[in-house]
Amino acid sequence: LRQKYLDAIAGAPDEAALEDLRVQAVGKKGEVSLKMRELGKMTPEERQVAGPALNALKDEINSALAAKKEALADAALDERLRSEWLDVTLPARDRRQGTIHPVSQVTEEVSAILADMGFAVAEGPQIETDWYNFDALNMPDWHSARTDMDTFYMARAEGDDRPPHVLRTHTSPVQVRSMQAQGAPIRVIAPGRVYRADYDQTHTPMFHQVEGLAVDRDISMANLKWVLEEFFSAFFGTGVKTRFRASHFPFTEPSAEVDIQCSWEGGTVKVGEGDGWLEVLGSGMVHPNVLKAGGIDPAEWQGFAFGMGIDRMAMLKYGIPDLRAFFDSDLRWLRHYGFRS
Ligand code: PHE
Repeated sequence: LRQKYLDAIAGAPDEAALEDLRVQAVGKKGEVSLKMRELGKMTPEERQVAGPALNALKDEINSALAAKKEALADAALDERLRSEWLDVTLPARDRRQGTIHPVSQVTEEVSAILADMGFAVAEGPQIETDWYNFDALNMPDWHSARTDMDTFYMARAEGDDRPPHVLRTHTSPVQVRSMQAQGAPIRVIAPGRVYRADYDQTHTPMFHQVEGLAVDRDISMANLKWVLEEFFSAFFGTGVKTRFRASHFPFTEPSAEVDIQCSWEGGTVKVGEGDGWLEVLGSGMVHPNVLKAGGIDPAEWQGFAFGMGIDRMAMLKYGIPDLRAFFDSDLRWLRHYGFRS
């Protein structure tokens, strides 16, 4: 009897089986309990032997039950700990993080450098009236420069023969808007999108410029050149070779374009070497007619202005050879050339 129960208890798979065994052995009608009831029919001599033996058996079974119960509970706890184990040393799962587009990055860099030089940021609309985009910039409607700009025109309703709005072809209309809003003296930059129907390695139909305008009493071409040269060495971090070329814009007189020396070998652009030049901006002294359009008296004030291609500055600084890739939205390209914040 003893061995039967001790073996069964040791082999019990769970608490329910253990409880069954308890009832079978030492429950009210259990085998051991029934045996104890028979003690009454025994002779005193027999009882003296069987009584303590049965009591000892009962104790032994009860403590075997208790020990097994504890062992089962321990095993259950171990199992739970194993299944709920959280390995905090595992590397975190990779989450795709966005990057800052090179154009946004360069817009920030350019604005920060010019802000240090005292230029405040101004804004204007991308859908512009032809007056701000052309007339106010000394390009009346018969002016040949208008047709040179590959302008996108907005449609007008049937029968409406006012001049159509345009997608601004440059940030220069913000010069006039800012002068009208603030008067002189003034020192502003205007970064933003501009549009021209043009597409090749260095032209996309939408691109970015930053306009600069400084109007004061004694502004000269020398101030313009100093600001631009300071700007370039701050932006590129070293002296870069620049080329000021005499040029023509209807809204500046005299005018100059600025190129930056670079090479185009091996699928990258490198600044400051080679025999290539990339045009990055147009500039000059603000034409008196433009000051007048902005409500400023040219007899009292002069100014310089420049319009810089932000995308081209990004190409040069980060060695990106083809402007078209900027606007393809290719995630691999964006991850490669983008900036982590
Ligand atoms: N608006 C001119 C362009 O887009 C650049 C420019 C700006 C030239 C200001 C002179 C002064 O080409």
